[in-house]
Amino acid sequence: MNGEASKIKGGHTYEVNGIENNQEDNRISLIFSLKEEVGALAKVLRIFEEKDISLTHIESRPSRLNKDEYQFFINLDDKSTHALDDIISCLRNDIGATVHELSRNKRKDAVPWFPRTIQDLDKFANQILSYGAELDADHPGFTDPVYRALRKEFADIAYNYKHGQPIPHVTYTDQEKKTWGTVFRELKTLYPTHACYEHNHVFPLLEEYCGYNENNIPQLEDVSNFLQKCTGFRLRPVAGLLSSRDFLAGLAFRVFHSTQYIRHWSKPMYTPEPDVCHELLGHAPLFADPGFAQFSQEIGLASLGAPDEYIEMLATVYWFTIEFGICKQDGKLKAYGAGLLSSFGELQYCLTDKPEFKPFEPEKTALQKYPITEFQPIYFIAESFEEAKEKIRKFATTIPRPFSVRYNPYTQSIEVLDNIQQLKNLAESINSEIGILCSALKKLE
Ligand SMILES: [Fe+2]
Repeated sequence: MNGEASKIKGGHTYEVNGIENNQEDNRISLIFSLKEEVGALAKVLRIFEEKDISLTHIESRPSRLNKDEYQFFINLDDKSTHALDDIISCLRNDIGATVHELSRNKRKDAVPWFPRTIQDLDKFANQILSYGAELDADHPGFTDPVYRALRKEFADIAYNYKHGQPIPHVTYTDQEKKTWGTVFRELKTLYPTHACYEHNHVFPLLEEYCGYNENNIPQLEDVSNFLQKCTGFRLRPVAGLLSSRDFLAGLAFRVFHSTQYIRHWSKPMYTPEPDVCHELLGHAPLFADPGFAQFSQEIGLASLGAPDEYIEMLATVYWFTIEFGICKQDGKLKAYGAGLLSSFGELQYCLTDKPEFKPFEPEKTALQKYPITEFQPIYFIAESFEEAKEKIRKFATTIPRPFSVRYNPYTQSIEVLDNIQQLKNLAESINSEIGILCSALKKLE
């Protein structure tokens, strides 16, 4: 029922330090950083001259990473390809420069573009696979012009949304509220016995602080603010289906792309796509849990710059955990996946002896095929979010990427750890955290 992470789209290009590589172009582009000292650039230019390479473009700017350095962006003509490896190794070894190669005709190895700052997520708004206002012919609301008009309004809100803006409040119709009420009432009867501890712990807080009750559809903005206070997770309205790559990238920033519309009133217990019942009853409670939030972000971070086949694997891991995950608590199976917690039928079915249960092992789970329009025949069991997170981390190390990434919550940006300076910054930051830990431990002695 939730196709949000089931489609793959490629076609982006890698961006380093804000400069994009144009794959259609035959030019070769490099960025390198040099210490700010007399004659540094002259040394580099001499190397180019010796290797008989002609530059077609050069520009410079102060380095954003190191205040003692300058960054140079250069283009070479494509006849210079033969000496490129030589030049890169001279720049790195003889001059001590940090070098990024932006292009060469090696599409196969190019790292796909990924957002580097939380504002970059705004770029996804117009990259949706299907617009929320366009319904398939078998959608329960297909022949209902009122429903279609409402869907268009929701789609437009999301389409025009920019990071940092409050999510517009929506006045839901009585019919929409009635649909919500039906779903809310039915599911709430199952939660005490079927939902995991974390869901049951957070749900009363959502009732208390976010207007969760059977007569009211909570506002995304209120829920988003609540989640930010708990774990830093936030909701962002989405106009339609995002590609798996874009959807997973949002998780790296603790951003969850959420729909705001509700399913059609004629079938309150069924939806062919994620809707506000699915997001707010299924997903939102878990994102308020620190362990689950970290686990979700780990999947997102693993996806950044990963090759398409790994995105598909991570989307499958997402499917079997965040959407349809089951965990063991006090020796009993409990549901934590949003697809289960928002489906009255499947929430009951998933804890019976009808489906097959397997242990969650990312490398195996990632290859499991699954149906999207019927109850899952197989579920994967996580022993704990902590353990699942460690497994994802290990799995992420098998993804072929020429760098590691880290989320910097102060700047809300992704740090690409591919040079010494970045690693020094990280070491300093860990060092200061360890200092805090040691001092706190001493005070407890
Ligand atoms: Fe979902």
